[in-house]
Amino acid sequence: MSVAIAARPVTTRDIRARKGAEPVVCLTAYTAPMARLLDPHVDLLLVGDSLGMVVYGLPTTIGVTLEMMIAHGQAVMRGSARACVVVDLPFGSYQESPEQAFRNAARLMMETGCAAVKLEGGEEMAATVRFLVERGIPVMAHVGLTPQSVHAFGGFRARGKSEGEAGKILADAHAVADAGAFSVVLEGTQEPLARRIAEELAVPVIGIGASPACDGQVLVIDDILGMFTEFQPKFVKRFAELAPLVSDAAARYAAEVKARTFPGPEHCFGAKPR
Ligand code: KIV
Repeated sequence: MSVAIAARPVTTRDIRARKGAEPVVCLTAYTAPMARLLDPHVDLLLVGDSLGMVVYGLPTTIGVTLEMMIAHGQAVMRGSARACVVVDLPFGSYQESPEQAFRNAARLMMETGCAAVKLEGGEEMAATVRFLVERGIPVMAHVGLTPQSVHAFGGFRARGKSEGEAGKILADAHAVADAGAFSVVLEGTQEPLARRIAEELAVPVIGIGASPACDGQVLVIDDILGMFTEFQPKFVKRFAELAPLVSDAAARYAAEVKARTFPGPEHCFGAKPR
C-alpha cells in the first residue's frame, strides 16, 4: 500500500535552514488526535519508537516493529497538515546493511507519506546515512544516548562524561552530519560536549537531555503532559499534570455508573429531559 504524498508547509530543507536561526520545536506524536493538537505549535512531529514504551508498555524500544511504526506514522500523517513528520526506523530494520535500510526506509515513506526517517548510530551508520540520502531519503540522525543500544550501554544513563566517550560522541555527530543527515538528535549528553557539538555541526542539532545551546529541542509528548507519575527523567519538564486528571475523571465516571446517575436523560435517545 502507498499513500498520496503531498508537500507540507514545513519541509526537511526548512528544518536544515534553521541552523543559527530560530530554535526548532519538536515533539513526539503517536496518534492522529494528538498530532492534530500539536501540529499548529511544532515544526517537527517525530513518530518515535519510544511509542513501544509509551503506548505499548514495553520495557525498551527493542521490541518495536516496522509495522507498528507504519501504523502510527499513518495516524500522525492523517492528524497533521503542517509539521514535518519524521518516523523512526525501529531496531533491526536498518543496521544490517545500507540496502536493508533503504528497503525499510522506502517502505516507511511510501506507506506513511512521512518526510524523513530517523535512525540511531554514529560513525558505524554514516555509510548507511549517505546511501539513503543519495537515493532521495532524508535522514535525521540520532547520537549520544541511543535507546536501541540500551543493552550495549548497560542502561539509560547520560553519556559523554569520560574523555573517551565524549570523543566518540563528537566523532559520531560529525560522521552522520558529514554523511548528509539534515539534522541530528543529540540525546542524554553532558552539557559542555552538547554545546560543542551544536557549535561545530553545520546542521541543526536537536537536543533531548542535552543543552539549551542546541538548535532545537525534542521531548516525548506524554512526558511534558505529565501522563506518567512513577518516574520523571531529569531532562523532562512537565508542562501539564494530566495523570491525576485522567484518574479523577475515570473515578467520577465509575461512581456515576454505579450510582446510576450516568447516563442521564440528556444522554439517552428518545428519553424526555428531566
Ligand atoms: O523515540 C523517540 O521518541 C526519540 C526521541 C525521544 C528523540 O527518539
